[in-house]
Amino acid sequence: MSILNADHANLHVIVLAAGKGTRMKSATPKVLHPILGRSLLGHVLDVVSHLKPHSISVVVGHESEQIQKTLGNPRGLQWIEQKERLGTAHAVLQCKEACSTTVCDNVLLVCGDTPLLRGKTLNNLLVMHQQKDADISVLSATQANPFGYGRIVREPSANELKYIIEEKDANAKQRLITEVSSGIYCVKRSVLFPLLERVDNNNAQQEYYLPDIIPLAVSDGLRVQAVIMTDAKEMLGVNNRTQLVNTEDIMRMRIIKDWQYSGVTIQQPATVRIEFGVHIGNDSVIAPGCILLGNTRIGYGCNIGPYSVIQDCYLDDGVQVRAFSHLEKANVGANCVLGPYARLRPDAKLDENVHIGNFVEIKKSVIGQGSKVNHLSYIGDTNMGRNCNIGAGSITCNYDGANKHKTTIGDGVFLGSDTKLIAPVSIGNNSTIGAGSIITKSVAENGLTLSARPEQRHIAQWKRPEKEHDIQKNSEDKK
Ligand code: UD1
Ligand code: CA
Repeated sequence: MSILNADHANLHVIVLAAGKGTRMKSATPKVLHPILGRSLLGHVLDVVSHLKPHSISVVVGHESEQIQKTLGNPRGLQWIEQKERLGTAHAVLQCKEACSTTVCDNVLLVCGDTPLLRGKTLNNLLVMHQQKDADISVLSATQANPFGYGRIVREPSANELKYIIEEKDANAKQRLITEVSSGIYCVKRSVLFPLLERVDNNNAQQEYYLPDIIPLAVSDGLRVQAVIMTDAKEMLGVNNRTQLVNTEDIMRMRIIKDWQYSGVTIQQPATVRIEFGVHIGNDSVIAPGCILLGNTRIGYGCNIGPYSVIQDCYLDDGVQVRAFSHLEKANVGANCVLGPYARLRPDAKLDENVHIGNFVEIKKSVIGQGSKVNHLSYIGDTNMGRNCNIGAGSITCNYDGANKHKTTIGDGVFLGSDTKLIAPVSIGNNSTIGAGSIITKSVAENGLTLSARPEQRHIAQWKRPEKEHDIQKNSEDKK
């Protein structure tokens, strides 16, 4: 067992997530509010899962069903319902039975609303706990503004932890203490539940406080310690929407730094949002204002232009996305060039070297290698071959008001500007369609196809209409 990688096979984790989250003023349970595409509880579960503990219990309240539905049932995780919200000690006590069946030596207690927590910080707490053979280890931090947190009270001579006093129960002198409890503990399983059963609710909030196991343990002669974490931000909890966005901002910059260190240029990072599930190949450049969401994969050497939004997309190597493009659930082959103002909708699939220009929308369509749709077009429900050139303003008319119909375009097709293809229709390889055509019947390979064009007339004596007041002015001028 290395010091940096404690073995957690004997660890049971309890996540407390039964709080009401009243201050969020939301129909959604607090722990389901997202930060960069993942719920608060999802972040905490991800971090504790990486420790590879023996098992995890999550204590949830009345919205348990909604929470379980959202997070599913990851392996080794059990949901425990706390019917009445009587305090943090009461919440942990609900896991007594679940814990009695495990063989774990230690129990790690964490809160479901602290998404900034890092695995290495928890690991460090567990290592210290084991090294000191402690009965209780609590993670603490120094906060310049300790308001609202439980203060760590140490015995002055030996500097040893005595008890934790909650904000509402603290006197003026205790409130000056800046070392606070993170609410994260590692406790020997053998002492945890007997101690919890002795905790009373004789305090300002009439709640059963988890921190009250500490003075009980001290009086029993058990070994307790407070382990100070290096990055005090990690313990920041989310209780309201301001804290939600502040926490998200810290997380956002962490993600951006990680990508910068792995070889991605991110310009004006304060304006860029990259969610958790996103992956970016090195030597890619992300311009200001970009928003990369969901399960997006960006290859090597891509260039994502300013203010582009990309969600759940796959972009192969060397793709150039120009400013203000919007891509959703699309698959983009190597070296494609998109935008500015390109829109790829779900199931747009572009082969290599495709060019999609400004104000072009592609939906549920395959665009073959080297084809170009450069200006003001809509391509939907279409299968397009290689090396086609689709003129400005061309539209696949795929919807008859009730049903969607398919268009097939072969290889090397040239559509003149403003062509309308009334689906279902198919255009043969290498055929050319004259500008302004309305194509209602399938077209054979090669050759030129033109639909009937309106007759062109010329009226030589025609005069442009004038504005009323110009007519008056002109007649007055003549007087
Ligand atoms: C708690 C600690 C405080 C610590 C702070 C760190 C107590 C009494 N206080 O205060 O020492 O400094 O966290 O953030 O423990 N919960 C339940 N069931 C309950 C009550 C709470 O599951 O009956 C859960 C909440 O969902 C939350 C966690 O326990 O995830 C902490 O509860 P909260 O009410 O937020 O405690 P704090 O006042 O923040
Ligand atoms: Ca809290």
